[in-house]
Amino acid sequence: MKKILVTGSNGFLGQKIVDLLASNDKYDVVALSKGPNRNPNQANYAFFQVDLLDRTQLTDFLSAQTFDTIVHTAAMTSVEACEADQATCQLLNVDLVGYLGAYCAKQQTQLIHLSTDFVFDGKKNAPYIETDLPNPQSQYGKSKYASEQVLAQSGCKYAILRTILVYGINADPNRSNLVLWAKGKLSQNEPIKVVNDQWRMPTFVDDLAYACQLAIDREAQGIFHISGAELMSIHEAVYQIADYWQLDKGLISEISAASIGQAENRPRQTGFDLTRSNAELGYVPTSFTDALASIDNQFKTFGR
Ligand SMILES: NC(=O)c1ccc[n+]([C@@H]2O[C@H](COP(=O)([O-])OP(=O)(O)OC[C@H]3O[C@@H](n4cnc5c(N)ncnc54)[C@H](OP(=O)(O)O)[C@@H]3O)[C@@H](O)[C@H]2O)c1
Repeated sequence: MKKILVTGSNGFLGQKIVDLLASNDKYDVVALSKGPNRNPNQANYAFFQVDLLDRTQLTDFLSAQTFDTIVHTAAMTSVEACEADQATCQLLNVDLVGYLGAYCAKQQTQLIHLSTDFVFDGKKNAPYIETDLPNPQSQYGKSKYASEQVLAQSGCKYAILRTILVYGINADPNRSNLVLWAKGKLSQNEPIKVVNDQWRMPTFVDDLAYACQLAIDREAQGIFHISGAELMSIHEAVYQIADYWQLDKGLISEISAASIGQAENRPRQTGFDLTRSNAELGYVPTSFTDALASIDNQFKTFGR
């Protein structure tokens, strides 16, 4: 049985990973987050409330037990928050990763770290491969690229899973994403403005959680691109969401990224070549339409 620590277990991805691993006897799961446990599923794992930026709390926690793998999802994930508070962004997204890398090197623990398409500038026609040169345009992207470099120098066994525009549903009603936002607004007959000049390969959160499990099982090392396989503009994605739930597309209007100040700090076009993650992890993404169908079912599971 592998003992797995999931940091950021209250987060969008963190809750999915905990649910996935805790339902499998192969794993002894320990979940850690800054706030009290917000996952209504509290079976088959242990939860610890730890502020990862409190070095005393963190070292006390890490000296009390050892892990085969740490899946590190905790981060400052908002582009705007990283711009507004660059010092905390550096501490959480970079310095902490260096600390965990050194700990994992010493303990022979595998570290699975999450990174982002925002390490790229979006000027190349997608898809990006793992060895393309990053050129981040935002503090968030810069911090994530710096975290990748810190890990490369740490001497630990690490896998970095870069991902793109994650969508899906978990039990937390406070954590939104493109699909829940668009469906929610259109269902209330509220008009929405959607960017038509940014292209992404959106990633189903269930696929990403499963990719983390594959990385654990295969003891993956190096950088892996994990996303959906379909390149679409944000506007096209929202049209598909409206189509799926038969909502009024007349409520959707198109705007440019520049008009809402997103042209400078968000890449115009990203998308990943999945050859490596498919060959080495066995990763196969769910199609966007199938993922919407799965989310539709999960609304009932999560009582929403
Ligand atoms: N979501 C996306 O579209 C996307 C895209 C590309 C990459 N990623 C990467 O994927 C990873 C997971 O993203 P996500 O969307 O799941 O993030 P999220 O929902 O924002 O969750 C992050 C979690 O980190 C925890 N955390 C923050 N500061 C902490 C601290 N000082 N100590 C302990 N825990 C702390 C928070 O816990 P509490 O809630 O308990 O405070 C939060 O729930 C991140 O590394 C992100 O950069 C995400």
